[in-house]
Amino acid sequence: MALRKILSDNHSSLRTPAREVTKINSGVLRLLDDMIETMREASGVGLAANQVGVSKRIIIANAGEDGEDNIVELINPRCDRAEGEEVGLEGCLSVPGAYGEVSRAAEISVRALNREGKEFAIQADGLLARILQHEMDHLEGILFTDKALRMIDPEELQSEE
Ligand code: NI
Repeated sequence: MALRKILSDNHSSLRTPAREVTKINSGVLRLLDDMIETMREASGVGLAANQVGVSKRIIIANAGEDGEDNIVELINPRCDRAEGEEVGLEGCLSVPGAYGEVSRAAEISVRALNREGKEFAIQADGLLARILQHEMDHLEGILFTDKALRMIDPEELQSEE
């Protein structure tokens, strides 16, 4: 496994829709492993392949609690149900130091392939639903700052703690 460089600001890779994965080969498996290591190293809760400069429709999320990992890997994810609405705080490894309130569906169903190439469905709410929507936006070239209802000064966050 190796760390990959996380692209930031308005790098063109972040603004270009990622390509469908047509074959799950050793390069894709290595990419998944590297993305997990890179996300952990950066203390992130999600990552999309185009954030590390690879135009493939691959995302990972870690919605584990209390320091426990609960990593989900999704290849070619597709949201086929979205219900409700929830406004919550988001940040992004590609937009360091910025935080904003974003409205997302409260509950979603997503279909994707796993690393064995098998299709699976995942039902998510709460933090995992938010992460998956944020990461799927990345695959379309969309950043949370495009959707934020308002940006939040990091000092404001500290005062709330
Ligand atoms: Ni992000």
